[in-house]
Amino acid sequence: MGEKDVRRTLLAQAERTLAHNQAGTTDLTESVTRIPASNYFDPERWQREVDLIFKRVPLLLATSAEIKEPNSYKAIEVCGMPVLVVRDSDGVVRAFVNMCSHRGAMLVDEGVGSTRRFTCPYHAWSYNQQGDLVGIFKQSDFGEIDFSCMSLTSLPVTERAGLIWVILSPSSTLDLDAFFAGYDELLGFCNFAEMNHFGSRRLVGPNWKVSFDGYVDFYHLPILHKNTFGANFPADALFHRVGPHQRVTGPRGSWSKLEGVPKDEWPDSVLTGGVWSVFPHASIAGFDLGEHKIYQVARIFPGSNADESISYLDFISTAPLTDEFIETANQQIAFLEHVVRDEDYATGLKIQRTVKTGAKKEFVFGRNEGGAQYVHGWLDAILETPDSELSDLFRRGISAGRLVTD
Ligand code: FES
Ligand SMILES: [Fe+2]
Repeated sequence: MGEKDVRRTLLAQAERTLAHNQAGTTDLTESVTRIPASNYFDPERWQREVDLIFKRVPLLLATSAEIKEPNSYKAIEVCGMPVLVVRDSDGVVRAFVNMCSHRGAMLVDEGVGSTRRFTCPYHAWSYNQQGDLVGIFKQSDFGEIDFSCMSLTSLPVTERAGLIWVILSPSSTLDLDAFFAGYDELLGFCNFAEMNHFGSRRLVGPNWKVSFDGYVDFYHLPILHKNTFGANFPADALFHRVGPHQRVTGPRGSWSKLEGVPKDEWPDSVLTGGVWSVFPHASIAGFDLGEHKIYQVARIFPGSNADESISYLDFISTAPLTDEFIETANQQIAFLEHVVRDEDYATGLKIQRTVKTGAKKEFVFGRNEGGAQYVHGWLDAILETPDSELSDLFRRGISAGRLVTD
């Protein structure tokens, strides 16, 4: 997709939103769907999701802004896998298991930092930014050592649209272009690559799907969030699907202001608005802050068991990081954290308690809840697909949660 095609695709999404605005309609799926309530707490199902979804598809582990400078790194542990993401002195990003080849110590603690060389804190074996072992303390005591077999374990990584994805399986052969299906190029229009990082939050929540369902759900906005931002927020949503991903726009509101405006004058803020959901676990939302825009990049990971998830919210913006901006931005972060923690996840944690009563065997998703229908359809399809056919599945797509209002 060239730059023109990206703009054309985003214009088509805006036109579709405007058309629904004018007609007073919204996206509906073919049918109501039901999923077993046990999907949200069954430990066996949860383990399969970790092994067959989170360890096989690209995970959004960092924004480029967090390791913007050459020689920077970020260490993060997800799904029991400590990962080290490194930007080398030439700006190239690599990912490794954060584990020393000698006897397994973690090379660096979680967080971001800057270094040209990773020296193990246990016995000082050292590695360069390419993951090669380059030094052994008291080397002569190890006899003949084949350094080329003692590199850090590499993980597949890709930096696209100012975001960094890693696959937790070293031997994955997944076709990344099939997985992204061009969604990465649409995300590129948001300019995340130019942004600065100014804040992070880590939140503990319920089963990762209870949490993630909420990020593709506009139905709850005017209800659950009525005391914060949602009172006048429409409950309708459009799902612009690209591969397994979907951008969600609300067709009510101020779209009518575009009427009569030539399309080539539609502002970028309109073309990039809404919530960008990235399968299987991320959600990116923009907020206006004065003349600037800030983005919340949320990623939800399975926690230590089926009843727990860990979410990372990272905040980036094109604004220069002045004291004044940081102060205002921190107020916005505090507000967003309050909404997610005290409204979304507080509700989700209670759901986590009710599902386990066994009182309800199924949950129902209405025809208006196409976002979650699509996500759950993909999860089920991936769980049933062997490694050798996974790329094909992403090329082929699924029929679950099909929209009948396009
Ligand atoms: S475990 Fe890293 S040097 Fe020994
Ligand atoms: Fe919410």
